[in-house]
Amino acid sequence: MVIAIDGPAASGKGTLAKRLAAHYRLPHLDTGLLYRAVALALLDAGLDLADRAAAAAAARALSPEFLGDARLRGSAMGEAASIVSAQPEVRAALLDWQRRFAGSAAGAVLDGRDIGTVVCPDAAVKLFVTASAEERARRRHRELDGRGEPVAYEAVLSDILRRDARDADRSAAPLRVAEDAVVIDTTELDADAAFRAATGVVDGRG
Ligand code: C5P
Repeated sequence: MVIAIDGPAASGKGTLAKRLAAHYRLPHLDTGLLYRAVALALLDAGLDLADRAAAAAAARALSPEFLGDARLRGSAMGEAASIVSAQPEVRAALLDWQRRFAGSAAGAVLDGRDIGTVVCPDAAVKLFVTASAEERARRRHRELDGRGEPVAYEAVLSDILRRDARDADRSAAPLRVAEDAVVIDTTELDADAAFRAATGVVDGRG
């Protein structure tokens, strides 16, 4: 059983994906980490994020041990990832990787932007997790505050809006809701309620 979870930045899809993977005992891949790792490889090598040939080479050279680097988690790397992820050569290089992961066990949970639309179009369950931009910015703002990285709320909101626009407007695999996806709007749901809604979809399928 493949569970495909897509949605914009800070929608709660990562937290939900982890909980579903633990609950159904499935391996989990946060596909955003792949794009973040490509961006980090370029920055570490002193290369330009817009260098398409270098970005494609970095994507082809990616291996699982790159995904544990703590530097991948910061918001700067999310922004850098959204630049390299618009390049079709990068997406193509990462596609096989993701499909192999999805097909390697009895099932898997993958979360990202194009899992239900491109990576796993035949997934048994497709969820699209979203929330208003203001609520996502409030969550991200709280999280950064908690980590001792205070940033103005307005700056967080404009970051989120810029990332949304970049992910939705690109021509290669733009963020959109798959026709057969169930939308879970978490604007007014906490993590437990979102989890209950998602297991309701998974357990009730067919
Ligand atoms: O989900 P996360 O914030 O880690 O993703 C970072 C960036 O990577 C996103 O803004 C998006 O541009 C890109 N991404 C993507 N396709 C995916 C996962 C992430 O384009 N499946």
